[in-house]
Amino acid sequence: MKKNKISKDWINKRRRDIYVRQSKIEGYKSRAIYKLKEIDEKFKILKEVKSAVDLGAAPGSWSQYLVKKIRNGKIVSIDLLKFEPIKNTHQIIGDFTDEKYKKDIKNYFKDEIDIVVSDMAVNTTGNKNLDAIVTGELCLEAMKFALEILKKKRKICIKNIYGI
Ligand SMILES: C[S@@+](CC[C@H](N)C(=O)[O-])C[C@H]1O[C@@H](n2cnc3c(N)ncnc32)[C@H](O)[C@@H]1O
Repeated sequence: MKKNKISKDWINKRRRDIYVRQSKIEGYKSRAIYKLKEIDEKFKILKEVKSAVDLGAAPGSWSQYLVKKIRNGKIVSIDLLKFEPIKNTHQIIGDFTDEKYKKDIKNYFKDEIDIVVSDMAVNTTGNKNLDAIVTGELCLEAMKFALEILKKKRKICIKNIYGI
């Protein structure tokens, strides 16, 4: 292995550890919180937001952050996996691409939804090309859904680890 590959791996691992430790100290369910926090601090995506949908919410750190930032608002957190409910959120366990759950989300918000955030990720196969395609499809689904339920000037924040 080349020297700069070793040091890159070392730096990445170390950085990961710092975020894991920090999330534990701050009481967040996972280190994923810091990505949303970074985006929010840079783009102020949660300014004046009163209602939010968190797609792929488990174990719940993005929802925890949303609760902190959206006072007296409405938040739906949905994931395929069961996870401990986050206080002041409405939890749905299910596949968000299933029409039934899309309807549940819409029904919960009788009025407008201000933002859709998505940190959804599929189980990786190890085949980077395949994983990138499947994850990309999930992102497109999230985008289509957001466009369907959001009114003009509302916001979408979708994370795609493969960057396509
Ligand atoms: C990286 S984790 C999310 C971490 C979360 N944002 C947090 O802060 O704790 C990705 C999640 O996406 C979920 N997911 C993947 N496909 C989904 C789908 N079709 N519907 C709902 N959740 C999905 C997975 O079950 C997984 O829990």
